[in-house]
Amino acid sequence: MTTSDPTTQTLTQLGKTNSDGVIALFADLRRRFEKEEAYQVLAGASAFNQWQALQLSWLGRKLGVLSRIKDNWLKPAPPDLRPVVGQEFQKLKAHVEAALEEKRKEIESAAEESAAAREKIDLSLPGVERPIGSRHIIRQTFDELIRIFLSIGFSVVEGPEIETPYYNFEALNIPEHHPARDNMDTFYIEGARTPHLLRTHTSPVQIRTMEKQPPPVRIVVPGKVYRRDNPDSTHGYMFHQIEGLAVDADITFCDFKGTVEYFVREFLGPHAKTRLRPSYFPFTEPSAEVDATCHICGGSGCRVCKFSGWIELFGAGMVDPAVYGFVNYDAAKLSGFAFGMGVDRLAMMKCGISELPLLYQNDVRFLRQFP
Ligand code: PHE
Repeated sequence: MTTSDPTTQTLTQLGKTNSDGVIALFADLRRRFEKEEAYQVLAGASAFNQWQALQLSWLGRKLGVLSRIKDNWLKPAPPDLRPVVGQEFQKLKAHVEAALEEKRKEIESAAEESAAAREKIDLSLPGVERPIGSRHIIRQTFDELIRIFLSIGFSVVEGPEIETPYYNFEALNIPEHHPARDNMDTFYIEGARTPHLLRTHTSPVQIRTMEKQPPPVRIVVPGKVYRRDNPDSTHGYMFHQIEGLAVDADITFCDFKGTVEYFVREFLGPHAKTRLRPSYFPFTEPSAEVDATCHICGGSGCRVCKFSGWIELFGAGMVDPAVYGFVNYDAAKLSGFAFGMGVDRLAMMKCGISELPLLYQNDVRFLRQFP
């Protein structure tokens, strides 16, 4: 607004004394409004701000052009000019209001359109392809083992990975200075109020289960176990086991042998043969190593079985009566068998894998080979 802006002066100061002059003045203003309005942009971030500025400069209560006209032209108008000034004022005001309202709507719909365009989903675009994973060989092996034992009446139980020495050793008939603890030297939990350790086998769950329920017991226990082994191609500080325990009034060595043979045939195929070799575990008596005919050569001898025809599968045996004493089972009336299998070993054997670390490196090129 400059001092030459006619709206800052009265009609008398502008020398307008008749209605033609007044009408011409209003016509000039209308053109000025239309010129300004023509610059209004409809889209983009600043469109609405620009519109607000335009609206303020024309319709603003204090400083708007129309307020100035009212104050400077209409109010002090000589009585004979007042009707025409009033009329022209109303016409201009209605025009400005209508035009601004129209612009506002156009801006809004432009904004909506661009938002819609932004949000539009192009159904013809190719989708994001996410590769479908598969179950890890360890998981697959667990599932297979569990399936076999479920089919002959076992149920699945799990136990804690952090154990007390009592469950991991003592209650399994392994007293404190027993040499059988040597090869199970384990990780003790530092700072525990009472001694705790990472279990070295799943056998403690035998004890936990028998403590909790009266016989008969038929369970398998899948889980992780830990040993202070030096990692190499067949050892790690953690591996997987599946424990088995069957205790009842009349379980014999024949039941044990029959169950083991059934398992081996289910797991390795109908032609696999089984052999029991004497062994030693403090919690089984007698104890055995279960061997199966080599899955590679079928028993004739090859590099994998070191030309013996046999592959060692797992440790097992009849439950040592001493164990029943720890769980208040009647050793005179009960008998049973137990076994503990290394699942990683079984998985490697079945899949022909010679390096244990491959199972834990999560290299998809390796994992994809076992879908
Ligand atoms: N707990 C034994 C081990 O980890 C395996 C085993 C389980 C042996 C049950 C006999 C009976 O070596």
